[in-house]
Amino acid sequence: MEVLQVTNISKQYGEKGNTVEALKNVSFRVEQGEFIAVVGTSGSGKSTMLNLIGGLDTPTQGAIIIRKRNISGLKRKELAVFRRRNIGFVFQNYSLMPVLNVYDNIALPVTFDKGKYVDHPYLEELLRELGLWDKRKRFPSELSGGQQQRVALARALANKPAILLADEPTGNLDSRTTVEVMGLLKNSCRKYSQTILMVTHNESLAANCDRILHIEDGMLLAGREGA
Ligand SMILES: Nc1ncnc2c1ncn2[C@@H]1O[C@H](COP(=O)(O)OP(=O)(O)OP(=O)(O)O)[C@@H](O)[C@H]1O
Ligand SMILES: [Mg+2]
Repeated sequence: MEVLQVTNISKQYGEKGNTVEALKNVSFRVEQGEFIAVVGTSGSGKSTMLNLIGGLDTPTQGAIIIRKRNISGLKRKELAVFRRRNIGFVFQNYSLMPVLNVYDNIALPVTFDKGKYVDHPYLEELLRELGLWDKRKRFPSELSGGQQQRVALARALANKPAILLADEPTGNLDSRTTVEVMGLLKNSCRKYSQTILMVTHNESLAANCDRILHIEDGMLLAGREGA
């Protein structure tokens, strides 16, 4: 089943005469359950692409279709709801809420979305799987970097998103913790058929994914991804 279709998207930043073309005519498709690495040099457009797919920003041109919905056509409010229900984000800097404990950080996006039932047994399963059950009442400041990133991952997975977008999720972690977090991502991909797009600068991590999208200068390089 196809989860994502990106068709001819372009993104320009800035005003006339002073524009940056961050993405140029990018197209690709993603099937459910694929674990995709996004690679490319600094400034090539990787984060821009993830932000557009996640509905944090809108493309200048082109269409992004997620689970058969064209998100480019959604209004601001509709997009916010769509994002909350269908997209999970993990960033390099965890971005947890400091005043909430681990459990509440994870339950927050689901609780916030009043239209959605909070599946507490599933949250417990997630916490146990990520080795966080014993830490559920702790606050982010009481956790190590790797533990905080696992909380961020659990939070991103809590609403069973169509797509998990991860922008250098292991960028701040040491090599042992990186391997651990990668293992958790891979496990959620295999166990829940979770679709993942992950930006990484680490070649061996990229080589471990199902497919690599290589972006340079805002363009998708032809590669194994094919048509
Ligand atoms: N909000 C913005 N306003 C103006 N230009 C931007 C904005 N965000 C990104 N850019 C520009 O768009 C281009 C692509 O940036 P982007 O952040 O997508 O790169 P990246 O591949 O994620 O780089 P890195 O690996 O360093 O994170 C860069 O030239 C950048 O300066
Ligand atoms: Mg980036």
